[in-house]
Amino acid sequence: MSTERTDAHANEQHSYQRHLNLERLLTAMRPVTTHPEEHFFLTTHHSLEIWMKQIIFDLHRILDHLDQDEINQANWLLTRLSEILRLAEAHWVVLETMSAADFAEYRSLLTGASGMQSRQFREIEVMLGLCDVAGPEYAARVENMWPGLIAEHPNTRRHAFFAYFKRRDLSLLDVYKNRWQQHDAFLLAEHAFELNRRFHSWRHNHILMVRRQIGIRALGTGGTFFDDYLAKTLRYYFFPELFEFRNDLTADTGGQVKPA
Ligand code: HEM
Repeated sequence: MSTERTDAHANEQHSYQRHLNLERLLTAMRPVTTHPEEHFFLTTHHSLEIWMKQIIFDLHRILDHLDQDEINQANWLLTRLSEILRLAEAHWVVLETMSAADFAEYRSLLTGASGMQSRQFREIEVMLGLCDVAGPEYAARVENMWPGLIAEHPNTRRHAFFAYFKRRDLSLLDVYKNRWQQHDAFLLAEHAFELNRRFHSWRHNHILMVRRQIGIRALGTGGTFFDDYLAKTLRYYFFPELFEFRNDLTADTGGQVKPA
């Protein structure tokens, strides 16, 4: 792969400041209160948004690889995304070093800003294919908040994943039973599962953090109560089939499985 410099200063020595565009990055933070903990709150949000940008960037590449049957490359990037999500989840532990009492002192001044308005978060869900599995209510909510976002991603990673299995005429059960013969497909399924699991873990631990910071019955700054919104998001899986077919694996080897 040949690579070229693309910036306007291609013939000059580069500098760290310019390459990272630090002037813009480090002046992006705009606290809206005088509370010292708000700086930390914004740092956490900013770093997660930067990681979401990377996830979106790599999800584009993963789709191209899947569509071109480049499974090793797709697998490599999927592993990275799982690691990024592991790192993302660690942000909740760090955020818990802000005491609930400190947060309460400035939270009411945040006037309607909520993580649920993160376009990148929603885009990741859409790119992975959540609209295909979460039902029309979910898709309508996304379309209402971000008109055109769903249409930007007509081909989802979920779709590309199953299209690959179809092209090779493979069922999940076959791939797992013949995992050493179908190793690339087996790894793809495991990586997709892991990505889904980590995302779920992020959701779950965000909720635990929310419980600690504001309590389970408090109204979110986005205007929702836990039972009405966040609790329901725990039902969202991008690849429910990858969780579900494990019952078939159990049944296939004589284990007892309740009917669905
Ligand atoms: C003290 C810290 C935080 C609290 C108490 C909190 C609380 C909440 C609450 C209550 C909701 C439900 C919507 C609402 O009514 O607001 C929510 C949604 C959400 N929050 Fe947080 N949050 C915190 C930090 C963060 C951070 C740092 C991020 C990073 C991006 C984030 C990302 C999200 C996302 C993406 C949603 C939507 C989840 C979904 O739709 O599935 N939150 N948050």
